[in-house]
Amino acid sequence: MTAPRVLHTDAEVLAHKRAGSLHVVTLVAPGVAELHRPGTFAELTLGGPDSDRLARHAFWILRTRPSGTYGSTIELLVAERDPGTRWLVQTAPGTAVPLTAPLGRPFALPREAVTCTLVAHEDGVAAVLGLAGRLKERGCVVHVVLGAASDARLYGALDLRRTARTVQVVTADGSVGRRGELAEVLPAVLDEQRPEVVYAAGPVPLLRATAAEAEARGAWSQVAYAGAMPCGVGHCLGCLVPVVGEDAVARNVRACTEGPVFRGDRVRWDEVTS
Ligand code: FES
Repeated sequence: MTAPRVLHTDAEVLAHKRAGSLHVVTLVAPGVAELHRPGTFAELTLGGPDSDRLARHAFWILRTRPSGTYGSTIELLVAERDPGTRWLVQTAPGTAVPLTAPLGRPFALPREAVTCTLVAHEDGVAAVLGLAGRLKERGCVVHVVLGAASDARLYGALDLRRTARTVQVVTADGSVGRRGELAEVLPAVLDEQRPEVVYAAGPVPLLRATAAEAEARGAWSQVAYAGAMPCGVGHCLGCLVPVVGEDAVARNVRACTEGPVFRGDRVRWDEVTS
């Protein structure tokens, strides 16, 4: 019998901690840490058993700990965006949350020790935090550019400074780092760093800009798509992304099963709706 690649379990909320206006939620989720690869995600059912507004929600897996005092745990970086995420950040420790993870295809890692630039906006950093370590283990030079509306929505810069050769920060209000938007600074950053691979996680306009700027410089790009994932397991077709396949045929694919990480040059960006 082969071991499962995806686990369905009632994860237990162990703790949550504020990080500016974001939250780090720790869940006891046996087995997920061992299977997780950067770029895969967890699908949670939010709202609790008494809710009439149950919602499924996808989260990047921020960190994993295969063993510790409480067993195998995972951490999620949560932005309060809707009733479901508000419920999650207020749940009492011990609350059971139905969880399916890890889902989707992870970031592909380069075979050679090359230069990589990681670009992430706000809670998108959760998709690339572990990736930076994996790339460094392979001998890659890792540069990181983080963006946020403000300091309060920025996470992970300190952690990433332990791994990456450089970490640059851009905030829209200038409260920390350079004032501006990630997409504005990206061309100059890539000209300076000259990466062979660019990884990105964040809203669609940032992913699109990253793919275009990487391609213009002859670099590969991999983008982590974070649109709606109503089921997370390939059943609802609520996460379709227009791409061009390796056979050069245009088609729509499910982000939850064929993604969420895509080659940036394969996405038909003009047709992406969210
Ligand atoms: S989220 Fe349902 S098919 Fe992808």
